[in-house]
Amino acid sequence: MRPIIIAPSILAADFAKLGADVAAVEKAGAEWLHIDVMDGHFVPNLSFGLPIIQSIRPASKLHFDVHLMVTNPEQYIADYATAGVNSMTIHAEMGTHLDKHLQAIKAAGMKAGVALNPATPVSVLEHVLHRLDLILVMTVNPGFGGQKFLANMVEKITQAKAMVGGRTIDIQVDGGITLETAPLAAKAGANVLVAGSAIFKGDAMQAVQGVRASASNSQ
Ligand code: DX5
Ligand code: ZN
Repeated sequence: MRPIIIAPSILAADFAKLGADVAAVEKAGAEWLHIDVMDGHFVPNLSFGLPIIQSIRPASKLHFDVHLMVTNPEQYIADYATAGVNSMTIHAEMGTHLDKHLQAIKAAGMKAGVALNPATPVSVLEHVLHRLDLILVMTVNPGFGGQKFLANMVEKITQAKAMVGGRTIDIQVDGGITLETAPLAAKAGANVLVAGSAIFKGDAMQAVQGVRASASNSQ
């Protein structure tokens, strides 16, 4: 059983006071900061990129967890590593060269993850498992915060957990994670819980502690 990690997604933060929002989740005890980079091609939305990461890096000690929703992930690896990103997750659907890109992420000194869209099976990971630090099971279709958790992804989390076996690979869930859905994901084997709306649209302290407690009780 791997420790529960709470990863607030700044996509739901108030960008007019981003530094204060990041400080609030750090104070609340979150371990990671989930950073959603979208290019408007792989997903139908644009978010932010390197300049924002460079601005907040000196202001926080949190583990910076970048979720790249872009068509050309290789283009970002070197600069993001230099900016102090700790883990980089790329999508399997963009993974014609998944093995090569994972090697590049590791060589740049970051932890490496692969994200799976809801329609993508865990079997695509079979031959890159030895390169992985993290598997991200998307529990919504990526692109937007505030969507409803897809309940049939619980079975996929179970499958990912079985595939991981005794390896030291984190299983992350992202999308629609709340006090109600976090326990379902944790029970199935997820230990890294991304939450945007549930944390930034209310009392961050209460939400971080609440999601952690509900997940820990179900592990
Ligand atoms: C969606 C992003 C998520 C998003 C989650 O494409 O990858 O990280 O911020 O937002 P909530 O928690 O509001 O579903
Ligand atoms: Zn994300």
